Amino acid sequence: MSETKPVVALIMAAGKSTRMKSRTPKVLHRVAGRAVVDYIVQAAQEGCGVQRTIAIVGHEADRVREYLTSRWGEDMGFALQSPQNGTGHAVMQAEPLLQGFDGDVLTLAGDTPLVTSDVLRSLLEHHRISGATATVLTAVMENPGAYGRVVRTPAGAVARIVEAKDATAEEKAIGEINTSIYCFRSEPLFRALARIRPENAQGEYYLTDVIALLAADGERVEAVVSPDPAVVMGVNTRSELAIAADAVRRRTNKRLMLSGVTIIDPANTYIDVEVAIGPDTVIYPGCVIEGATTIGSDCVIGPHTHLVDCALGDDVRCEHSKANLVEMADHSRVGPFAHLRPGTSLAEEAKIGSFVELKKATVGRDVHISHLTYAGDVTIGDNSNIGGGTITCNFDGRKKNPTTIGSNVFVGSNNTLVAPVTIGDGAYTAAGSVITEDVPADALALGRARQVVKEGWAAERRDRPECS
Ligand code: UD1
Ligand code: CA
Repeated sequence: MSETKPVVALIMAAGKSTRMKSRTPKVLHRVAGRAVVDYIVQAAQEGCGVQRTIAIVGHEADRVREYLTSRWGEDMGFALQSPQNGTGHAVMQAEPLLQGFDGDVLTLAGDTPLVTSDVLRSLLEHHRISGATATVLTAVMENPGAYGRVVRTPAGAVARIVEAKDATAEEKAIGEINTSIYCFRSEPLFRALARIRPENAQGEYYLTDVIALLAADGERVEAVVSPDPAVVMGVNTRSELAIAADAVRRRTNKRLMLSGVTIIDPANTYIDVEVAIGPDTVIYPGCVIEGATTIGSDCVIGPHTHLVDCALGDDVRCEHSKANLVEMADHSRVGPFAHLRPGTSLAEEAKIGSFVELKKATVGRDVHISHLTYAGDVTIGDNSNIGGGTITCNFDGRKKNPTTIGSNVFVGSNNTLVAPVTIGDGAYTAAGSVITEDVPADALALGRARQVVKEGWAAERRDRPECS
C-alpha cells in the first residue's frame, strides 16, 4: 500500500556558504564541470521516481534559481528562504508548495555531491517497507568531525541528532553521523517543524530536531547506514570541494576505462563528468577534458592537452594543444602546440601543426596548416596548403574582416593575408607575399619586392678602411 505513495525531492540550497569564503554560493561551485547541487538533483531524479523537485533557495537566490532552471528546466520548483535561519527553517519554506500533498518528502542537502542514486533508492525503499514516519541516512566515520551525531537508545532506536557544536564530549565520541539526507512523511514532518525552536549554539532552526520530536511522539524513526561513508560527505570548504571533485573524477575515469577507453595515468587525467569518449581512444597524462566535450573512438589525446566543449570524431590525434569550442572531424591531426579558439572546425584529415593559432576558422578536408600560423575569421577549402609563417591580418583596428581561401590553394610560406581578401580555387601565392588584393582562381600572386643582388658588395665592404 505505502509503496504507491508519491515522493517529492526537496533540496536545501539556501545556505550562506560562509566556510567557502566565496562570492559564489557553495551549491554553484564546480565539481568536475557541474555545479555541486546538480549531482544530488540528478541522483534524486534517477533513482527514486520523484514527481517533483523543489529547491529551497535564499543566499544569492536569483543566481541559484536561474542556474537550476537552465539546467533542469521549468519543472523545477522553488521556495525562497529569507533570511537563512537553518536547515529546519529551510524546509518550512516548502510547506505552502506541499499543501495537500500526501506522500514522502525526500529531503536532501544541496552540498552532498557524491551521493548515488542507489543510496537514495535504498533509503526510500527502507522507509516504505518499514512504514516509518522518518528515515535518516547515516554513516559511520572514524573521524566524524563537524557532522551531527546520531544518538540511539540502549535498544538501538534513533532518539535524536545532536550537532557537533552542541554535543557533549560523550556525544562527540559517537561515530554515527547524520548525512542531511532524509525521507519524511509529509504531514508529520511539517507538524513537527512547527514545534522546533532555535535554542542551540547557532541560534538556528535545525531540521535535525524534528527527529527527536517524532521519536518522542512515538513515531517510527528509522536509520539506514550508508555502506560507504565517503559518498555522503558534505562540501563545506574548498578543501572538501577538491576532495569531492577528485572522487567524481575517479568515478568518471573508471567508468570510461570500463567502457573501453585507455587512460594511461588516471591520477593525472582530469575529465569532466559529462565528457563522452569512444572505445579504443587513448588518453595520455596531463589532459584536462572539460564541459560537453565528446571524443570518438580510436583517438589519441595528449599528453598535455586541454579541451573545452569540443567535438572530436574518430581517429583524431591532438597532442600538447588547447582547444575551446572546436570541432575536429575524423582523422584530423592537431599539434603539438596548437591553440584552437572558438568557432573553429576542422574537416576530415585536416592537419594543424606546431604553433598554429586558429580562431573562427572553417578548415576544409585534408588542409595542412603545419607551422607557425595565425588564421582568424577564415574559410579554407579542401586540399589547400597554408605555408609556415602565414598570418591573416583580420583586424583593421576597428573590426574583424574575413579571409576566404578556396580549395586546392597553395599559400606560400610567410604570407601576410590582409583581410578582407579572397584567394580563388587552385591559386598560388608566392612565399613572402603580402596579399592585399583578391587572387583569381588558378592565378599566381606575387606580393613582394623583387630581389636585388649586388655582386661583390660584401667583399668590397670587408676591404674598406674603417672610418672613425
Ligand atoms: C548539516 C546537519 C548535520 C549533518 C550535515 C551533513 C543540520 C542542523 N545539521 O550540517 O547534522 O551532519 O549537514 O552534511 O541540519 N541550508 C539552507 N538554509 C539554511 C542553512 C542551510 O538551505 O538556513 C542548506 C545549505 O545550503 C546546505 C544544506 O542546507 O546545502 C546543509 O547546510 P550546512 O550549513 O552545510 O549544514 P551542516 O553544518 O553541514
Ligand atoms: Ca554541509
